[in-house]
Amino acid sequence: MAKRLHYGTTAKLLHWVIVALLAVQYPIGWLMPDIHRGQSPGAAMTFHISFGIVILLLIVLRFIWRLTHPVAPESSLPPWQRLGSEVVHWMLYVLVLATTVSGWLFASFRGWAVSFFYIMPLPMLASDNAAAGKAIDGLHQAAEWSLLVLIGAHIAAALAHLLVFRSRVMQRMLPG
Ligand code: HEM
Ligand code: HEM
Repeated sequence: MAKRLHYGTTAKLLHWVIVALLAVQYPIGWLMPDIHRGQSPGAAMTFHISFGIVILLLIVLRFIWRLTHPVAPESSLPPWQRLGSEVVHWMLYVLVLATTVSGWLFASFRGWAVSFFYIMPLPMLASDNAAAGKAIDGLHQAAEWSLLVLIGAHIAAALAHLLVFRSRVMQRMLPG
């Protein structure tokens, strides 16, 4: 399949909607109260899980879009930057997927009944399992922190291209 030279409107829209959702998701995750054995999840956890499911659906959609609409790296970049950006981009997809799926598994192993934005019950991936829940909790935290570090590197690279290298990389993801 011939690679496009530019991101289209759909790719840009999906990129920025997911950025906005992640900017909401991290603070909810950090601020929401812990839920102890015997307690049922409150509003903050319901919203964390619901936003998380939306992020999961969008990243899957976006990944499929990316595979069917490949975009070539900016041609003016040296080979190491082209390779580096491709590696970071694929890892961003993988880590968003790992964070959302581990979160869903964690909620499932806790045996919670959670709704999707109070609209409908959310199907769970597994049944109550305390030992598996403990293990997957660590995975969700490892995934969420690795994702944050990689996002930091990604934003630093975008800013470096804008301010230091003065290349057109930032413009590629902006409207127009
Ligand atoms: C990319 C999306 C997501 C991000 C960035 C994220 C981030 C976070 C953060 C920052 C925390 C706080 C944990 C800590 O103290 O370090 C957390 C906890 C949690 N998240 Fe997520 N999350 C995401 C998706 C999900 C999804 C999809 C679900 C479930 C369907 C979920 C379920 C949970 C649960 C159950 C906890 C509580 C874990 C605990 O008590 O340690 N998360 N998440
Ligand atoms: C303020 C924050 C952000 C800025 C300024 C930014 C900027 C950019 C830019 C300029 C590109 C195009 C790079 C190129 O053409 O080589 C891009 C691509 C990308 N960004 Fe971001 N980004 C931000 C946040 C995020 C976040 C939070 C994620 C996490 C999922 C993310 C995931 C991606 C991915 C996966 C690509 C590659 C798109 C593809 O080729 O499929 N970005 N970003």
